[in-house]
Amino acid sequence: MPGPLLPLNDGYELAFGTVKALILAGGAGTRLRPITHTRAKQLVPVANKPILFYGIEAMVDAGITEIGVIVGDTREEVMEALGDGAQFGAAITYVTQDEPLGLAHCVLIAKDFLGDDDFVMYLGDNLLEQDLTAFTAAFERERSGTTAPDAQILLKQVPDPHRFGIATLDSEGSVVKLIEKPVEPPSDLALVGVYLFNSTIHDAVAAIEPSPRGELEITDAIQWLVDHGRRVRCELLTGWWIDTGKLTPLLEANRLLLERIDTQIDGDVDESSVIDGRVHIAGGARIINSTIRGPVSVGPDTEIRDAFIGPFSAIGARCSVTSSEVEHSVIMDNSIISDIPRLEGSLIGSHAKVIRTARKPRSLQLMVGDHCQIDVE
Ligand code: G1P
Repeated sequence: MPGPLLPLNDGYELAFGTVKALILAGGAGTRLRPITHTRAKQLVPVANKPILFYGIEAMVDAGITEIGVIVGDTREEVMEALGDGAQFGAAITYVTQDEPLGLAHCVLIAKDFLGDDDFVMYLGDNLLEQDLTAFTAAFERERSGTTAPDAQILLKQVPDPHRFGIATLDSEGSVVKLIEKPVEPPSDLALVGVYLFNSTIHDAVAAIEPSPRGELEITDAIQWLVDHGRRVRCELLTGWWIDTGKLTPLLEANRLLLERIDTQIDGDVDESSVIDGRVHIAGGARIINSTIRGPVSVGPDTEIRDAFIGPFSAIGARCSVTSSEVEHSVIMDNSIISDIPRLEGSLIGSHAKVIRTARKPRSLQLMVGDHCQIDVE
């Protein structure tokens, strides 16, 4: 009989071994340019925290602390942000992917780190509402049964299935076919970027050929498991899931995560300012003659003066927002917004300046890269 599931310090220790995590943080982030010219897409902040941190925290919350992180061109930045993992209560091992050769290629090059252990593979730009403890526990629980799964996938109905890996299930709900970004999708069940594997996946990733886009697809590797009689268990995701790779989903993730914050005011709010709804104001921030209508997060040492900050805005550290209205936007650290009548649905990089020099009413929607300067006349 397997023993109880006990999270221990050195990984999710189970009756049969350890569960590790493989978090993918390579990838160029082309759909978020110009922001990603200067920053790893997984480190773009949502609700004032880098996207990647949510994934790592989800792993640690599920009791998984041995984490491999695949890094690419932006490896220095990712490694600086995550360090050795101690800040998360995890131990991180980095594996470099020299070229973006696909998600299954990441498994191939992480073989030494993974050994024969079960692991969760997590795409670093995915955000999920659901915590992953039940997902991993279900996989491990079934390992002792006669129908022990070799892989477990999460599926979610999407309106745009041609953008994802898509699953077809039979009448019993078993996976029969997986196809990557089909032109004519056979279903609307997308593969969420969180997968669980045992060591049989290593045979699969070694056996498959590159796809038409020149990548070793994890979708094809899972199909290989199905074709070779392996059991692929699937679960339907109930909560929200966002693949943050583009502006609109990124702002949506920011909105959903800000929905969860509690009011906490550590900075200074002067008497002529109004704080309304759930608002987080970090230490050292100053709110002067302004209205903040939550949910909003204001980072440390940021000054908001004569401004309105509306719902679903996350303003980073050491920013200055003066005589402006900001709503449903992400503004990264060290940026200046001045005299902008209305900034909405925008993503502003760090050290950016958006400044209006002449006083004509105008509403702006911008994606401004780091270190840019926009002067509005
Ligand atoms: C990848 C996978 C795809 C999956 C998606 C989830 O797509 O290939 O099967 O549905 O992640 O985010 P990519 O981000 O490489 O386009």
